[in-house]
Amino acid sequence: MDRTKHLLRLQDWDAQRILETINIAIRLKEEVKSNLYSNRFAGRTIGMFFEKPSLRTITTFQVGMHQLGGMPILLDPKSIGINQRESVQDIALCLSRWVNGLVVRCFKQSLVEQLAEHGNVPVINALSDDYHPCQALALGQTMIELYGTDLRGKTIAFIGDGNNVANSLMVLAAKLGMNFTLACPKGFEQKNEEIQVCQPDFKKNGGKYRVFNNPKDAVADADILYSDTWVSMGQEGQKDEKKTHFLPFQINDELLKLAPSHCKVTHCLPANRGEEITDSIMNNLQINLCYEEAENRLHAQKAVLCQLLH
Ligand code: CP
Ligand code: NVA
Repeated sequence: MDRTKHLLRLQDWDAQRILETINIAIRLKEEVKSNLYSNRFAGRTIGMFFEKPSLRTITTFQVGMHQLGGMPILLDPKSIGINQRESVQDIALCLSRWVNGLVVRCFKQSLVEQLAEHGNVPVINALSDDYHPCQALALGQTMIELYGTDLRGKTIAFIGDGNNVANSLMVLAAKLGMNFTLACPKGFEQKNEEIQVCQPDFKKNGGKYRVFNNPKDAVADADILYSDTWVSMGQEGQKDEKKTHFLPFQINDELLKLAPSHCKVTHCLPANRGEEITDSIMNNLQINLCYEEAENRLHAQKAVLCQLLH
């Protein structure tokens, strides 16, 4: 399988392609602001199925495909019955005969991998237990809009669980020469294999990976503080236990005071106000970029569609 024909993990795309995609996203954003819509995907369709809930991803892929002149089709995973009603292989082979691409949110990363392996159309990972590449591209766009094209030497400090979003942001940082800092309670770090995969890129591009178990140590040199839920979709059973560990890992005014004065905050959303981030930070739109990043999901994903659908 040629992994560059899909977006299964950001790791599969090189820095040049990531930057090119972000440039397309910035151009598409300007076009939308000028009410310019293209017809490049006229007659084209993407099939979308989401095993987990979504507001941003499900809306932006549908709006984005429509703005490009194509049509999204929302499929119900329960109705499809993956591995119950039929095999992933047969689902991929049939869908490939009808749609020009697939956008899939799932639990196991292996599902997007298998759909790509067995089908003949591009597969886009719209979040799995392991990765969220579309979120990372939207952050890349947001940071380039803020700091300019060369992000080398910038530092993303992720305050929270070493989860799917953290994994994809770490890859973004490694590929673009940024530093990635994780602050989490002991035992909630990213898997060592995920970190090791990024090390050659950190080394080559001049960035570094660090992990702290005290959030105060992590923010001193940050350009962006990143927040996400402590309890990801599918982990609801661990909610009470996780909350006790994560209480000190809240982004609030006190923590922000320890960061450089130019430092901004963002969140992939949905946010649990009062838990991983306070109302005070969420409502401070001078420093909180999360709604800009949410808007950029639309543009970044349209750019991904332009890169993959032919
Ligand atoms: N950030 C994000 O992916 O949001 P949704 O879960 O609402 O799609
Ligand atoms: N880490 C979160 C991201 C939500 C967009 C989750 O997987 O639920």
